[in-house]
Amino acid sequence: MPLAAMTIGEAIKQATLQLEGGSLISARVEAERIVGEALGLERSDLYLYSEQKLTASAQAFITKAVAERLGGRPLQYILGHQHFRHLDFICRENVLIPRPETELLVEEVLAGLDDLRTLGVPLVLDIGSGTGAIALSIAHENGVARIIAADVSDEAVALSRENAERHGLLDRVTVVQSDLFDGLQDYRRCVDIVVSNPPYIRTSDLDGLQGEVRREPRLALDGGVDGLDFYRAIIEGAPAFLKPGGLLFFEIGFDQAADVVAICEKSGSFKDDEVRKD
Ligand SMILES: C[S@@+](CC[C@H](N)C(=O)[O-])C[C@H]1O[C@@H](n2cnc3c(N)ncnc32)[C@H](O)[C@@H]1O
Repeated sequence: MPLAAMTIGEAIKQATLQLEGGSLISARVEAERIVGEALGLERSDLYLYSEQKLTASAQAFITKAVAERLGGRPLQYILGHQHFRHLDFICRENVLIPRPETELLVEEVLAGLDDLRTLGVPLVLDIGSGTGAIALSIAHENGVARIIAADVSDEAVALSRENAERHGLLDRVTVVQSDLFDGLQDYRRCVDIVVSNPPYIRTSDLDGLQGEVRREPRLALDGGVDGLDFYRAIIEGAPAFLKPGGLLFFEIGFDQAADVVAICEKSGSFKDDEVRKD
């Protein structure tokens, strides 16, 4: 049946079958997201209109999106956005797609901000901001703190800024291009919280990753030979930027807790380490 003659319900069914044929695990959910995007409808509203016929442009969008998905392009790059906590983030190739597990890191930072006994407006530094998911969610949900979103990648810096503008957060979020702390010298001893979801995959594990993750930038994933390069560098560099009593938050890989705690302890700069599992 040509797709143009289809109803929304039929298009979802057909796209699901095609995606299942490509062994995509969440075929139905992805089909719904693609059809919803084509029509500007929330997934939950799709079934209210399931008998409605597709327009030609919606049909073209769905056909192209399903073909790209079957070719291994991540759904978030095809649709151009991803929801994270309470905001929607523009996503583009060359910038890491925000992950649901990173939402917990934001929750921990928000709790840390509540516990801070700082005078004035707290300052949070997010190293490796990517789309801006962490930095902008903190700014949005805390409502007071100022955030510096730093990334070494041109594309990530541009996207963090674009997302900040989109959500009206540029008054409290400063986006800076910086290789780790290099471009942040103005903020020495000014920061209350450093947070980072750094690249933490061992270089040797990168090639064994699922095809889709390999479509994401290596710069966002490669943590060096043992995956710990960025933890070492940030733990070493952060004390010069943190106020006394400041806090450091990381996302870490499932098997990295003991190593990262050991690096903190060896540094002598951080105490009271806590690890939370997502
Ligand atoms: C795992 S991604 C995290 C992105 C985003 N914070 C998130 O959670 O979705 C790591 C980020 O670190 C950035 N990065 C890599 N090397 C860096 C460096 N030397 N200095 C600053 N950022 C770096 C990458 O460009 C990437 O955006």
